[in-house]
Amino acid sequence: MTEGNQTVISWFLLLGLPIPPEHQHLFYALFLAMYLTTVLGNLLIIILIQLDSHLHTPMYSLLSNLSFSDLCFSSVTMPKLLQNMQSQVPSIPYAGCLAQMYFFLLFGDLESFLLVAMAYDRYVAICFPLHYTSIMSPKLCVGLVVLSWVLTTFHAMLHTLLMARLSFCEDNVIPHFFCDMSALLKLSCSDTHVNELVIFITGGHILVIPFVLIVVSYARIVSSILKVPSARGFRKAFSTCGSHLSVVSLFYGTLIGLYLCPSANNSTVKETVMAMMYTVVTPMLNPFIYSLRNRDMKGALVRVFCKKKIMV
Ligand SMILES: *[C@@H]1O[C@H](CO)[C@@H](O)[C@H](O)[C@H]1NC(C)=O
Repeated sequence: MTEGNQTVISWFLLLGLPIPPEHQHLFYALFLAMYLTTVLGNLLIIILIQLDSHLHTPMYSLLSNLSFSDLCFSSVTMPKLLQNMQSQVPSIPYAGCLAQMYFFLLFGDLESFLLVAMAYDRYVAICFPLHYTSIMSPKLCVGLVVLSWVLTTFHAMLHTLLMARLSFCEDNVIPHFFCDMSALLKLSCSDTHVNELVIFITGGHILVIPFVLIVVSYARIVSSILKVPSARGFRKAFSTCGSHLSVVSLFYGTLIGLYLCPSANNSTVKETVMAMMYTVVTPMLNPFIYSLRNRDMKGALVRVFCKKKIMV
């Protein structure tokens, strides 16, 4: 396609990961295994929570939503990465690139909001145990999930529409394994000031506000535990909150390390590896972090899969 003497780009080249050719097969197998683990682990959690009536509580309903979001989040980037590792020309059409960016933002933000909802749920459960069922009603739970979807849809749509305005000229090589918003902005030959301003404003809100809310929730949880020291309450609170906190630190740790503390020589290799952490590793680990040492989940596993044996 040409427009005047300016070439309009209809596809992009995704450079992928900086892996030496002799290790391509090894990494392909590794990523495939990681992706399959993510899909199966999260599917198992969703199915368990739907099937077992003991897990029909706000906490597990939110966890099921988080698993769904994780499943979609890694499916936005991983299948394309695996396909590109096998093909000679790792390309992606322009529309596909925008779609990937849209869904990446959508499920990434959704994950962020769901982590806030889960932190709030734990805060109410530990600080107001007697009012928990009246505060965390199914209505509020649905409300939180719907609000998360509305906000993330709006945010992802805003950035995708702003990106669609830009034109891309000669350079169509993306030094990344997916259509990352900042990588696309660097390629554009239009004025990207508006985009950068919007990213700065909304990005601050989308990253910093959830993080602060989560930290405040857990700080209140810890202070309320310390006020009434009892070994049992202590252990119970830390077994649920400890797992949530490890997910949160993994997710925000890499994001904040990447975007808020850029080092002097912010190499693309380092950026790609860190992007790999939150796009692939976090969604894969979530099901294990939540089910590990979780008696309810283990109980549900036994109840759902050994039902026949128990009935006999
Ligand atoms: C997400 O949460 C809502 C509200 O609690 C619930 O009705 C719904 O089933 C959940 N979705 C999934 C996929 O778990």
